Amino acid sequence: VDSNRGKKLEYVKIDLTQADRLIKEMAQGFYSVFMGEIDMAGCVSMGNYDYIHPVKATALSLLIGKEAGYAKADLVKLGMASLLQNIGYIMVPKNVLAGLDPSSEDASPQFRKHPELGRQIVLQSGDVDANVTEAIVQHHERWDGSGYPKGLKGEEISRYARIMAIAGTYHELVSQRPKQQPFSPPEAAEYVAAYSGELFDPELAQIFFRSIPFYSKGRTVKLSDGEVGIVVDANVGHIGRPLVRICYDRYEEEVETPYDIDLSSPEYQNRMIVQILDY
Ligand SMILES: [Fe+2]
Repeated sequence: VDSNRGKKLEYVKIDLTQADRLIKEMAQGFYSVFMGEIDMAGCVSMGNYDYIHPVKATALSLLIGKEAGYAKADLVKLGMASLLQNIGYIMVPKNVLAGLDPSSEDASPQFRKHPELGRQIVLQSGDVDANVTEAIVQHHERWDGSGYPKGLKGEEISRYARIMAIAGTYHELVSQRPKQQPFSPPEAAEYVAAYSGELFDPELAQIFFRSIPFYSKGRTVKLSDGEVGIVVDANVGHIGRPLVRICYDRYEEEVETPYDIDLSSPEYQNRMIVQILDY
């Protein structure tokens, strides 16, 4: 991808086959992409957050799309749009991207061109469904018209782009970003809830709350009684109540034989996750 940097827009092409393969894999098995780390080997140079973010946000978009009842063909289109949403970055000067928080209001005019640049790059790279390019150009539009580039409102914005707005914002908030501490998953969800009907489609936000696993597989978490463990299953559908393998007891001593507790079972209803330790 970076080898395209500095070229004139009309000469920039990206290889869509790898993106296509990754998305089909994700939509196909619908394996726990978001719940664990996904294998990005061979998939463009995703050495930094700019590129990893769309992959993670894509897994979330797919979760929302699936919960919204999309058939596989639609999931693949949604996934493609989501994965390529920021491909326009390759035409944005590096100093504009450096240290920038994409969710902040002060995104510069140059940065704000990336949705349209992305649309053009994808268009000239191959045969892509019109819904995909439409969603790419609209992924920073917001429900109340406060987004860019056109300030579209409500259902004027494509449904894919409305899903991507929720998934992208949520993932940005929970990620380690320059100059800002990450939100915890419940805090980020609360943010989406607070702006549901303003920035985000309220109906899709509801769907999002039903589908989001706050604590993804592999995360190290601290429970309310002081034990520390690793999430071994996100328990999709049970918001904030994953299956946790306890590794350290409340005295911070390593337990001899780690054991699993299912926070979604009534037995453990009084125990909560109070902290994520491995951000
Ligand atoms: Fe973007």
